[in-house]
Amino acid sequence: MDPQAKQGIRASEQDEPPSLNDEEESGPPKDTAEFYRAQPIFNRRIHVLGTGNVGKFVAHSLRGIPQDPPPVTLIFHRHEHLTAWEESRKVINLITGGDSVYREGCDVELAFPNPRYHGKEIDQSELRRSDSWPGKSDEPIDSLIVCTKAPNVLSALSPIKHRLHSESIILFLQNGMGTVDEVSREIFPDPATRPYYMVGINSHGLHRAADQFTTVHAGFGLISLGILPHERNRDPTAPYAPILKFAPGRKAEPIEPKNPATPGLSAQEPEPVAAPWTPNQRYLLRTLLRVPVLGATGFSPPDLLQIQLEKLAVNCIINPLTVLLDARNGSILYNYSISRVIRLLLAEISLVIRSLPELQHIPNVEQRFDPGRLETIVVGVAHATKDNISSMLADVRAGRVTEMNYINGWIVRKGEELGIKCFMNYMMVHLVEGKGRMVSAELREGVPFVDGPLDATEIRLKEVTATANEGKGNSESATANARSLENSTGEGPDGKPVAST
Ligand SMILES: NC(=O)c1ccc[n+]([C@@H]2O[C@H](COP(=O)([O-])OP(=O)(O)OC[C@H]3O[C@@H](n4cnc5c(N)ncnc54)[C@H](OP(=O)(O)O)[C@@H]3O)[C@@H](O)[C@H]2O)c1
Repeated sequence: MDPQAKQGIRASEQDEPPSLNDEEESGPPKDTAEFYRAQPIFNRRIHVLGTGNVGKFVAHSLRGIPQDPPPVTLIFHRHEHLTAWEESRKVINLITGGDSVYREGCDVELAFPNPRYHGKEIDQSELRRSDSWPGKSDEPIDSLIVCTKAPNVLSALSPIKHRLHSESIILFLQNGMGTVDEVSREIFPDPATRPYYMVGINSHGLHRAADQFTTVHAGFGLISLGILPHERNRDPTAPYAPILKFAPGRKAEPIEPKNPATPGLSAQEPEPVAAPWTPNQRYLLRTLLRVPVLGATGFSPPDLLQIQLEKLAVNCIINPLTVLLDARNGSILYNYSISRVIRLLLAEISLVIRSLPELQHIPNVEQRFDPGRLETIVVGVAHATKDNISSMLADVRAGRVTEMNYINGWIVRKGEELGIKCFMNYMMVHLVEGKGRMVSAELREGVPFVDGPLDATEIRLKEVTATANEGKGNSESATANARSLENSTGEGPDGKPVAST
């Protein structure tokens, strides 16, 4: 068997930095850095699953750590990607302000996803497991960053789930909410063997370039990170204990907000998040915090949840409305009728968020998620990104599946659990999905002629692929797609960097 088959394809064995365990320590640590250096690290390798814009950006950034960058492995899901990598210079290119920075040293692996139909995996294991293919690896994964879109997370994780163990850490960088619960339910149902999870909220603006291993960093943003409490240590739906805020001259007493929808729930006592970090959790968090370009910051679980919910509220408005209006983010501003729709949606979103049992004992939740405040945030983001095309509109125009189920869909599902009927959000989910299906059907029906000079008698059909639909065709809709993708999330028409939505 090919010796590479067991461990993917390594850029170079010399790239493997010496283990930090080898360092000789004597006496107590002099400072924090020395303390951390003395901690045991079992495996410094970080795997990146989903090598789109965010995946390439994260891998590029990690390899750019000036001293001792961690070994990074990209996990491809198509054989073409592996072949293209093998035939390329084996570098990732990040374009920032027109300047290219190439980074080498990434290793690659190939993991084929099993197909999923009606939400269930079709098991092709007998055929697949016995097979060995170039780039296949069965080595354990200690640190994984998942950078696919939310609807692809399950199918992406499934072929590598046997390599993740109870001490592994998985960082999820998807927009929307509900991915983590889905992974626990479908991939790791047993809490005893379930890995630890970390969640990141990414506000960088990235879009694709012509080359497969290049991405454009169009808008500088931040990544807010938080390690989620594990079910082994704490009930995930238990309310978080209030964080005491101290003000000079005042007694520090947390405000006990009333749960507006289900007052009886507050009977449950808040639980502190007290589990110590595992070495893998600490290693991945520390490594990401060391990368200046990521602008990463660590937050406690209740703080991270609130940041996530604020971003969700913004996405619940801007994404579906820009899809339905087929317009840039700024189009929802200064329009009386659209403001009415925004307020109706936000009334439901605000009620669901304020009713979440996890937030019951957090002070100021009522004020922070008040519909009026959420509207101010939505208007601010729509204004700052007024010339952008939202990622959801770009997906719909290109005939791709949207993340709607994890945005307004999550509000509807949570509302059902809490006894709140979210008619407006339900309608939005189905209008966007309906529009997506309509556009996909139109794209499939479009006559797939190729651009370029042909002689008078020649008619050449292009290969109908997703890429072709993204702007290589000459039909009206395909040209519109190309325009949208050029100005996709994070960049205005003049190329001015702006935050992503
Ligand atoms: N781009 C941004 O500016 C930005 C900003 C903030 C947040 N986000 C969020 O970050 C996430 C990723 O966004 P993105 O822009 O990086 O998306 P993207 O460019 O579409 O990347 C997704 C990648 O996942 C791959 N993939 C699809 N199915 C897979 C599977 N089953 N197994 C393994 N890989 C699979 C895709 O490969 P194929 O293309 O070959 O299918 C693609 O390379 C999304 O949730 C997005 O909302 C993005």
